[in-house]
Amino acid sequence: MVSLDLEFVRSHFPAFAHSESKQWAHLENAGGSYVPNQVINIFNNFYTSSKVQPYWNFGPSEKAGQAMDRAIEVIPATFNASPDEVHFGPSTSQNTYVLANALRPDWAIGDNIVVTNQDHEANIGSWRRLENTGIDVREWKVDPETGLLNLSDLSQLICEKTRLVAVTHASNLAATINPLNSIAELVHSVGGLLVADGVSFAPHAAIDVHTLNCDIYLYSTYKTYGPHLGLMFTSDSISGKVTNQGHFFNAGKPTGRLTPAGPDHASIAACAGMIDYYEEIYHHHFQSGSARLRDRIEKVFDLFGEHEEQLMEPLINYILSREDFRLIGTPSTNRAERAPTIAFHSYTKSSEAIYDSLIDANVSCGHGNFYAHRLTEAVGLDAEDGVVRLSMVHYNTEEEVSRAIEVLESIA
Ligand SMILES: Cc1ncc(COP(=O)(O)O)c(C=O)c1O
Repeated sequence: MVSLDLEFVRSHFPAFAHSESKQWAHLENAGGSYVPNQVINIFNNFYTSSKVQPYWNFGPSEKAGQAMDRAIEVIPATFNASPDEVHFGPSTSQNTYVLANALRPDWAIGDNIVVTNQDHEANIGSWRRLENTGIDVREWKVDPETGLLNLSDLSQLICEKTRLVAVTHASNLAATINPLNSIAELVHSVGGLLVADGVSFAPHAAIDVHTLNCDIYLYSTYKTYGPHLGLMFTSDSISGKVTNQGHFFNAGKPTGRLTPAGPDHASIAACAGMIDYYEEIYHHHFQSGSARLRDRIEKVFDLFGEHEEQLMEPLINYILSREDFRLIGTPSTNRAERAPTIAFHSYTKSSEAIYDSLIDANVSCGHGNFYAHRLTEAVGLDAEDGVVRLSMVHYNTEEEVSRAIEVLESIA
């Protein structure tokens, strides 16, 4: 069986060699991941040789356009989608904001939408604001003990007037993978749309929008080893429902309608570096080449996921073994059930105090609500002190996780 060559992986990330950053066990990946050379090189090339208006016929401009087109062509494979279905925006928060404005004219006063109190505010606030325009906003609430959503509660909330359900694929705190496919079945049975926030899922596994059956799926590339952008998949089902949010003369372009301002050209181009990195990992680990880019991405994320499962197991088990700690989300260490994002709190110490100890030991992490403000309060915590979050991705090592456990043990 092939397993992830961690030394090879880490050799692509300059942060692990830099005199300052290499001192840290980076366990704040759910906030933002490190970037490999493949992404940095594209930025470097773009800014040094083609930082001009793209798509004219002079050399640097042609080159800029080609670099952007390459990303636009290859990035959809990360969703298992096609280029006409993927929108490049500045962030996920801005993509949901635009989407909410684009969908609202298709709905009538008294129609309803469902949001959760498990999501990051990026997939709540834009939808909740529609209440001011006569939309009935309903909340799908988590279990206050575990922070988990129950599918049967959703069936009580939806009806033939439900236009949309917005839910996270995996919360940035509870990290538990929600059954999007079953949720989609329920939402579609009343004619509604499903918007899934995949920001906390995307760094860990290959997304397949067709299997998931969602109408809109979003993730942010600064969490998936890329530049700071937000990507949004929209299916055919919504094309007739969105009003154009772009310039009127771009209304006919499928990906112009939901991106009123095109984001940074260099960042669009640099997204291709994520794919270049996955390709490098693929070719290092597998001899026989899979014909399709999509298949290669799936194999790479399988390798990532296996390693991440090994990383999260000791940390989750350690937290569960502590009577003074409470883990948010499922206690499972199975990657089919949760992402390696571990949020917990102590019954006897503030999250800030635990965070301080981790930072003192050079474990990078955070504490608070991480913009999952409603979830933090729903599980009974103060939104400012909140939880401590330790989040891993494939490039982390078992030693880094052990360092965090040692700190937690030392403050027992
Ligand atoms: C689960 C989740 N959704 C949405 C967002 C917001 O993404 P962006 O910063 O691209 O707006 C975040 C950011 O941390 C997140 O963790």
